[in-house]
Amino acid sequence: MRRTMVAGNWKMHGTRASVAELINGLRHLALPGGVDVAVFPPFLHIGQVVDGLKGQSIQVGAQNSAVEPAQGALTGEIAPSQLVDAGCAYVLVGHSERRQLMGESDQVLNRKFAAAQACGLIPVLCIGETLEQRESGKTLEVVSRQLGSIIEELGVGAFAKAVIAYEPVWAIGTGLTATPQQAQDVHAAIRAQLAAENSEVAQGVRLLYGGSVKAANAVELFGMPDIDGGLIGGASLNADEFGAICRAAGN
Ligand code: PGA
Repeated sequence: MRRTMVAGNWKMHGTRASVAELINGLRHLALPGGVDVAVFPPFLHIGQVVDGLKGQSIQVGAQNSAVEPAQGALTGEIAPSQLVDAGCAYVLVGHSERRQLMGESDQVLNRKFAAAQACGLIPVLCIGETLEQRESGKTLEVVSRQLGSIIEELGVGAFAKAVIAYEPVWAIGTGLTATPQQAQDVHAAIRAQLAAENSEVAQGVRLLYGGSVKAANAVELFGMPDIDGGLIGGASLNADEFGAICRAAGN
């Protein structure tokens, strides 16, 4: 059985004061057993969050990391080994905002994924199509190419210690959510692509859905057979709403 997971991507939000408030809210949540919960603050606040959540069952991840595992001369970047040292367990790889706005290519993301795993971080690989790609019937082709890039470069075994988040770009921060069936169809295709290489890996890997998930739509989404939880943006900035989404994953 796959354990469900709920991950909160705080994106570029937070001040020391607002993060302290959010930590306080998270500490008071009644979280369900059987769900892995993690939050992904901006780099600046990782130390504050790791310290603030000590003794809680919430893990911490980063939103990005460098292409090289070890620290070195790479101005402005953060090495995965530094994230481990800071107390991170996970790192997002290839969020659509980085693919689109920062121009991160599949080649760069292969390196980031490998570097993260080399340090023992669990990469959360984000994949998904734009509205234009969906409307022209290219959803599965796009998602399969993004996933296939890692499989070709690192082998399907890399997903024995990774998480995948399917996030349709048109659903991120827009209030538009994929219907549970639309999301399930893509999740099933992702799992089938992995299964064609290794059925054990395919059955074990967690596939999260992301894109305007809220407490109100989480139960239905998480009820689908190939949806193992969610990657939550906007709604993760509110501790009570995030807690309700975690409870939905525990059902
Ligand atoms: P959203 O973001 O929940 O605000 O749509 C999800 C994400 O980008 O990870």
